[in-house]
Amino acid sequence: MEAGWPTGGGLLLCLTVSLLLQGRGDTFTINCSGFDQLGVDPAAFQAVFDRKTFRPVTNYSNPTQVNISFTVSAILKVDAQLQLLTSFLWINLIWDNPFISWNPEECVGIKKLTVSAENLWIPDIFMVEAMDMDRAPSGLSAYVSSEGRIRYDRPVRVTSICNLDIFYFPFDHQNCTFTFTSFLYTVDNLLLGMAKEVREIADTSRNILQTQGEWEFLGINKATPRLLVGSSVYDRIIFYVAIRRRPRLYVINLLVPSSFLVAIDALSFYLPAESENRAPFKITLLLGYNVFLLMMNDLLPASGTPLISVYFALCLSLMVLSLLETIFITYLLNLATTQPPPMPPWLYSLLLHCTTPKKCCPPTSQKGNKDLGLTLAHLPGLKEPVEFVGKVPSPQEAELNGSAGSSRGQQEDKAQHQQLVSLWVQFSHMMDTLLFRLYLLFMATFVITVIVLWNT
Ligand SMILES: *[C@@H]1O[C@H](CO)[C@@H](O)[C@H](O)[C@H]1NC(C)=O
Ligand SMILES: *[C@@H]1O[C@H](CO)[C@@H](O)[C@H](O)[C@H]1NC(C)=O
Ligand SMILES: *[C@@H]1O[C@H](CO)[C@@H](O)[C@H](O)[C@H]1NC(C)=O
Ligand SMILES: *[C@@H]1O[C@H](CO)[C@@H](O)[C@H](O)[C@H]1NC(C)=O
Repeated sequence: MEAGWPTGGGLLLCLTVSLLLQGRGDTFTINCSGFDQLGVDPAAFQAVFDRKTFRPVTNYSNPTQVNISFTVSAILKVDAQLQLLTSFLWINLIWDNPFISWNPEECVGIKKLTVSAENLWIPDIFMVEAMDMDRAPSGLSAYVSSEGRIRYDRPVRVTSICNLDIFYFPFDHQNCTFTFTSFLYTVDNLLLGMAKEVREIADTSRNILQTQGEWEFLGINKATPRLLVGSSVYDRIIFYVAIRRRPRLYVINLLVPSSFLVAIDALSFYLPAESENRAPFKITLLLGYNVFLLMMNDLLPASGTPLISVYFALCLSLMVLSLLETIFITYLLNLATTQPPPMPPWLYSLLLHCTTPKKCCPPTSQKGNKDLGLTLAHLPGLKEPVEFVGKVPSPQEAELNGSAGSSRGQQEDKAQHQQLVSLWVQFSHMMDTLLFRLYLLFMATFVITVIVLWNT
């Protein structure tokens, strides 16, 4: 008997169809008297399956309402270079098929059935941004309810275009769009709706989302502008999916080490300018920083100019500047101690001005300041050498050898030379302090700017 159904031929089929589709007009009730004996009788649905080529409506002037929802189950990859977001979605579509209906009481209480999706009309909803779509399993089924409501779910791995802005990397938020529309049907034939509220979609996604990876799911918004192409109007739903990068990895691996290196570089200004170690120390830091940048290059986005690249470049420039400063000060000190050029009067008065008790340059060692103050105060007279102590020994010698007239001129020359050296050394220290302050000012401005930019 069962084998007879397929071979039964056209006549039997026609008979069954006319029997099954009893309600002429709008009601099509499936005869399910045999559901309890031998499972579901395929013949009972044959009439519906035969109509799958056409949109299931009883009056072609009425559009089919298709309701959409989806769940983001994983955010797999965000490619800033290609501007692609790869995610895993469960898309579900719900629509009504007026040719399917049965009375559950007659059908041993069956209210829902699964039917292989290839036997049903499926709306051609697609995602506009999708560049690549893997439909994981083939041969999916759809749930059909006794009122003819069809629910079709499918999991897809979507690689979609997303306008990614990595300027704020690694503190960036991305707002990707998922636009669903019908490929063919205009609004006269197909209308889109929401199967769930967006808030519900967002909540489910947040609960389902498995990956504790780099991206955190924030929320979903939607908009429903229609699309006009020529004279055809298409219905569409745009979902805005907001995600945020978890910055911890980058903060620990990129920002913290680089900030430490810059801080050490700033502190190295406290190494005495006369010591031989300052320049080599800074060069070592610079080399270390370059190695760090090379190693961490993989963590940076491959395209665009994120703020963090600017930050690295500025850190590097700060280090280079500080090295240049050290070279300049070393040169100045060297010049001062070997062959000090005559000091221009304006510089002299400036030094005088700065070393008076106003204390405009305190970090130059207090003792040196005093020395200079005394030196300058007694420079014109050169008669009371008793007061000179410490760094400037020549006046003492001058006093000791005061009797020798011929050597007195020499001594005076030597003393003047020493004065000049001491002045130039003071000047170098002053420059060092000044440049250090400028450096700090520059660094503070830059750090504050970067932090403010990152916080907006
Ligand atoms: C359903 O089909 C059976 C035969 O398979 C028939 O006996 C029964 O009368 C039909 N029921 C209705 C409501 O047409
Ligand atoms: C089909 O629907 C349109 C509009 O909804 C209506 O004007 C028309 O009468 C309907 N046709 C039939 C055959 O019911
Ligand atoms: C789709 O949603 C609308 C409103 O949200 C509802 O009136 C309609 O019955 C739904 N249709 C289907 C097929 O779920
Ligand atoms: C994403 O962008 C759209 C339009 O550009 C905007 O309406 C929406 O509010 C944004 N969503 C978030 C979460 O920022």
